[in-house]
Amino acid sequence: MKRSIVIFGASGDLTSRKLIPALYMNFRKKRLPENTQIIGFSRHPFSDDAFRQNMKEALLAFIPSEFVEEEWSAFARLLFYHPGSVEKLNDYLALTKKVNTIDGETADCLFYLAIAPPLYPIVVQKLHEARLLTSMGNEGYRRIIVEKPFGRDLASAKALNEDLLKVLREDQIYRIDHYLGKETVQNLLVLRFGNAIFEPLWNRNYIDHVQITVAETVGVEHRASYYDQTGLLRDMLQNHLLQLLTLVAMEPPVSVEANALRDEKVKVLKGIREIPQELSARFTVRGQYNGYRAEPGVDPQSSTETFGAIELYIDNWRWQGVPFYLRSGKMLKEKMSEIVIRFRRPPLQMFDVLSGSTELSTNHLSISIQPDEGIHLRFLAKVPDGGMAMRAAEMNFHFRDAFHETPIPESYERLLLDVMHGDASLFARDDEITLAWQLVDSIRMGWEGETGPALQFYERGSWGPGDADRLLWKEGRWWMEDSVLHRSEQNAGKA
Ligand code: BG6
Repeated sequence: MKRSIVIFGASGDLTSRKLIPALYMNFRKKRLPENTQIIGFSRHPFSDDAFRQNMKEALLAFIPSEFVEEEWSAFARLLFYHPGSVEKLNDYLALTKKVNTIDGETADCLFYLAIAPPLYPIVVQKLHEARLLTSMGNEGYRRIIVEKPFGRDLASAKALNEDLLKVLREDQIYRIDHYLGKETVQNLLVLRFGNAIFEPLWNRNYIDHVQITVAETVGVEHRASYYDQTGLLRDMLQNHLLQLLTLVAMEPPVSVEANALRDEKVKVLKGIREIPQELSARFTVRGQYNGYRAEPGVDPQSSTETFGAIELYIDNWRWQGVPFYLRSGKMLKEKMSEIVIRFRRPPLQMFDVLSGSTELSTNHLSISIQPDEGIHLRFLAKVPDGGMAMRAAEMNFHFRDAFHETPIPESYERLLLDVMHGDASLFARDDEITLAWQLVDSIRMGWEGETGPALQFYERGSWGPGDADRLLWKEGRWWMEDSVLHRSEQNAGKA
């Protein structure tokens, strides 16, 4: 049976940086189903060969160490190009000829919308009109992958959903969040539910608070016009950070089946307490890096946030009263995504007097999503031959050491395969999206109101505005990037 993957937005960045490299890697690993063809669709007038040449250059630029000439030649034979406008029905009708099998029936077809979000409803409607969303025979699927952001607020996300559901069933729609494709993010589930020792401690009785940081060193790069209209809340919080939060906070699902998992994530999102407008400045911080307004393509008066920090509470039995601190930003000191579970201090502080510190005796578990993929547990240890001197020590697990024979794959590899296999576990359901927007809209409303936090400017290469630190200090807490520094020192020592 013939299988087609059609990428709308084939001349864009996502296609060359992520999608084609991921498909090439799946091909190399012999995971791409037989008879797959990949068709790039975009307005640019490329020939098949010109498209192949561009994709070859992309592989050489983005995954040079994986490039093998013979394998590329075999992979290139699967690549085709279809010049067309997303607005013209005729261009879709011409596409049907390419995805049809010899006997005239269309087989499996996956459509990837790597295009500007306002075009999603147009493409889906035209696919429908060209009868590309219905299998002609009784075999073969029709699925679409929708890139984030899914809408720009609750109302537009709902409208988009309605548009999609007019011509597609929910099980044909895959709303992608590439964070869920990261191995270390999936490992969160294994850590929590595949081991017996963590779950008994994973609640308000033992956990003081949770920190989730997704920090980037880059600025808006060449995406200024998109980013300036979007900002951090929509670009990172509504999706990646909230997805991480749901995985940390969810109850054990009854199975790994997609809806069992998503039901639990939805319960967490439903439990998140909304931040009332008048308390916005107490629970949220928004920042913009110095020089952002001078970036090409950015409005010189822009008040778009490039940094956000939020204190959230989940109103359920497990998490009542436990703060979840989320922060993310561009142009920060280090690129790192990390979840820190900070445990409560021992009930009897008998060593504090001796160690002179209360911080030493608090345990934390850091789950490093990237780039130092691994897990670190900090605990108190006695310094040998030092009387009762004590020091914090760490137990470290690094994927690169424990599984050195298997490098960590890019998240799109896994996610694209999952869609081909019809597994939606790592994709967001419509109710998850709706709840996430509800929260983001309420934060945004607070920011736009009179009592919202002022936009704070921060130095490039810092950890963001000072108020992000104050968000934790007021409760006698602090961000845990020191644990990362500790690891950097260790890594430097190793090298
Ligand atoms: C994307 C955002 O979803 O995630 C980007 O649109 C951001 O602004 C990127 O840079 C970060 O992804 P990663 O995998 O590099 O952490």
